Amino acid sequence: MGRIRDPSLSERGRRQIEWAERHMPVLLRIRSRFARETPLEGVKIGACLHVTKETAALVRTLEAGGAEVCLAASNPLSTQDDVAAALSEGGTDVYAWRGQTEEEYRWAIDMVIRSGPNVTMDDGGDLTVAIHEAGAAEGVWGGTEETTTGVIRIRALEREGRLAYPVVAVNNAATKWDFDNVYGTGQSALDGIIRATNILLAGKRVVVAGYGHVGRGIAARARGMGARVIVTEVDPVQALRAVMDGYDVMPMSEAARVGDVFVTATGNVDVLRGEHFAVMRDGAVLANAGHFDVEISVGEIREAAREVRRVRPNLEEYVMPDGRRIYLLAEGRLVNLVAAEGHPSEVMDISFANQALAVERLVAERGRLQPRVIGVPPEVDREIASLKLESMGISIDKLSPEQEAYLRSWR
Ligand code: NAD
Ligand code: ADE
Repeated sequence: MGRIRDPSLSERGRRQIEWAERHMPVLLRIRSRFARETPLEGVKIGACLHVTKETAALVRTLEAGGAEVCLAASNPLSTQDDVAAALSEGGTDVYAWRGQTEEEYRWAIDMVIRSGPNVTMDDGGDLTVAIHEAGAAEGVWGGTEETTTGVIRIRALEREGRLAYPVVAVNNAATKWDFDNVYGTGQSALDGIIRATNILLAGKRVVVAGYGHVGRGIAARARGMGARVIVTEVDPVQALRAVMDGYDVMPMSEAARVGDVFVTATGNVDVLRGEHFAVMRDGAVLANAGHFDVEISVGEIREAAREVRRVRPNLEEYVMPDGRRIYLLAEGRLVNLVAAEGHPSEVMDISFANQALAVERLVAERGRLQPRVIGVPPEVDREIASLKLESMGISIDKLSPEQEAYLRSWR
C-alpha cells in the first residue's frame, strides 16, 4: 500500500535515515523503551509530516512501540523521495513524493484519513482540518501538532467549539518552540537560501519579517554570517526586543527599498506584496520560512512580471516591467525544507522526542482527555532537556535542600 516516487531509491534512503539516527540519541532512547514496553501495540497512527530522514526516525520509533503508521507529506515540495522509499520498503504506508500537485497532496491526506487513525500527527493542521471537514473524527482518540501555524488553526477550531478530540500542542513545548523554531529554522533557512543562490551573505542587507521564534533564529544566524540585518514587526514588544538585540527595525515599506535578501517568518499572509515588489532593488532575493506559501504574494509578483524564468533549481527570476529582476526561492514555500533538508537531526531529536511522548500519553489517557488543545507538561520538557544534555556529555548543578526551601519561602 501507499504511493511514492521511486522504490529503487530505498538503499540511499536507508543510509540517510541511519545518518539522522546517529544524531538523535534522545529519540533512540525512547525507541528502546518503546520496543521493550510496546505502549502503542495495535495503535493506528495517521501522520501528515514533512517526509524527511528525521521523520523516518520518528516513524520507526512509533513502529518499535507497536504502532501502524500511515504517512502523508505536510508540504507538496518537502518530501525526500529516497527516505519515502526506505520507509515504504520497511512496511510503512507512505503517500508522499516531491512535487505533488495540490490535488495529489489532498488525495494523500485523504488516504491517511481512510486508514482509520486512532491518533493523528500533524504539521500545519491540514490533516486535522481535513478530518473535521470530512466528519471523520470518530475513532480518533487524540492528535499532536508540530508547528505554530497548526496550533493557531486548531485553537481556532477549539474556539468555535468544533474540535472533536484532544490535540497536544507539541510546538508549544519549551524543548520544541525555543529550539527547533529558533536554532533549527535559523540554520536551515540560511542553508536553503545559500543552496538555492550561493550568494555571499557577508555585507548583504537581510530583511527578516517577524521577530518571533523563527525570525529571531534567522536574524541571529544571518548576523553571524556578516549580514546587516533589518527586522520588521507588527508587535511592539517583539519590535523592541529586536531593537535591543541590536537590529535595525522599520516598516516593510522602508525595508523593501533597501533589502538585498528578504525572509518572511510570520505565519501571516501578504507580508511581501505588490507595493513592496514595486520598490525593491534590482536583484532582490525573496524567501519564506513560514509554514504556508502565503507570506510572499506569489500571485502578485507573477502578475506584475513581464517575464519569468527558472535560473537554477529552486530559484525563479521575475523581470519587472522596468527591467528590475527579483528572485523568488522555492516558489515561496518553506525554503529550508524545499531548497535544503529541513532542520538538522540534532534539533529534530528533541522535537520528535516530544512527539513520541505525546502520542504515548494520548494512548495511555484515551477517553480521559477533553477535546481541547493541551500542553506538554513541564516535567516532560525537563526530562527531554536532561536527556539531551546527558547525550551531549553536559552536567548541571542541583538545588540544595536549603536552596529549594529558600525558593519556596516568602520570608
Ligand atoms: P511566533 O508566533 O513566535 O512569531 C511570529 C512573529 O511574526 C510574531 O512576533 C508576530 O508579531 C510577527 N508577525 C505577524 N504578522 C506580521 C507581519 N505582517 N509583519 C511582521 N511581523 C509579523 O511564530 P514562530 O514560531 O516564529 O513561527 C512562524 C512561522 O514559521 C509559522 O508559520 C510556523 O508554523 C513556521 N515554522 C516554520 C518552520 C520551518 O521549518 N520552516 C519551523 C517552525 C515554524
Ligand atoms: N521541520 C523542519 N525541519 C524538519 C525535518 N528535518 N524533519 C521534519 N520536519 C521538519
